[in-house]
Amino acid sequence: MSTSRSSSLAEDGAAGVRPGAYYGNGIPYLPIDGYPGKIIAIEGTDGVGRSTQISLLREWLEVQGYGVIETGWTRSELMQPTIDLAKGSNTLNKLTFVLLYATDFADRLEKEIIPALKAGFIVLSDRYIFTAMARAGVRGVDRTWVRSLYGFAIAPHQVFYLKIDEKTLIRRVLQSRGMDYWESGMDMKLADDIYESFRAYQRALLKEYTSMADEFGFRVLDARRKVEIIQDELRRQIGAFLAENDTSAGKEAE
Ligand SMILES: Nc1ncnc2c1ncn2[C@@H]1O[C@H](COP(=O)(O)OP(=O)(O)OP(=O)(O)O)[C@@H](O)[C@H]1O
Ligand SMILES: [Mg+2]
Repeated sequence: MSTSRSSSLAEDGAAGVRPGAYYGNGIPYLPIDGYPGKIIAIEGTDGVGRSTQISLLREWLEVQGYGVIETGWTRSELMQPTIDLAKGSNTLNKLTFVLLYATDFADRLEKEIIPALKAGFIVLSDRYIFTAMARAGVRGVDRTWVRSLYGFAIAPHQVFYLKIDEKTLIRRVLQSRGMDYWESGMDMKLADDIYESFRAYQRALLKEYTSMADEFGFRVLDARRKVEIIQDELRRQIGAFLAENDTSAGKEAE
């Protein structure tokens, strides 16, 4: 399915969209022009280390006086119980899956992200629409259609992609919390056992993310390195961006 709008996400990609603006038609009743807040997204696959980096970033930003909120998938009050229920029943059709996630994002956009941008906060987003696109892509949902679906989303100011290889990821996940059903893509019936399924599913996901890096201008970070090294690089790039935009936006009013 394609769209005739010239400003759609599918047609312009990140390059044609100003950070902080809607990718496509947006939410027509919610103009966001001139809002001082910033969206900083940390993307990456399951277990790569996003939460670890986000909690360190939050602390660092708050010490400097920035107001910070965190947002992440399936955390919307409206959709969390429904998504949990659908995952639990394991009868989820792939299109329904995509639409439930999009609804979760729409709810958080309207109730959390946009109000925070208006108030000059930094929104630290634990994954953004790209994870939804990757998961849909590997399940065979039309990529152009998914991109136009997310035309209501706002282009982040910075997107960091924590890039990892399959082998390091497996080691990290096994050392921490193990593999779960959905992270292993068991719904896709790629393999009988969870280990093989995790490997095949994550390999496909990593390929999807990689192919989106140029399309959406990801800042790619090597996630195989130590936590502190990755954090230093994030702070350097975010710090430079905020310094450029400072005085007018970002800092909480004194
Ligand atoms: N750079 C790193 N090197 C080694 N281990 C790491 C690194 N970053 C995080 N870890 C460890 O990997 C595990 C997963 O980290 P974390 O919870 O931050 O990942 P996540 O991407 O948020 O995962 P999830 O997809 O479950 O939300 C944790 O045990 C964490 O301590
Ligand atoms: Mg996490």
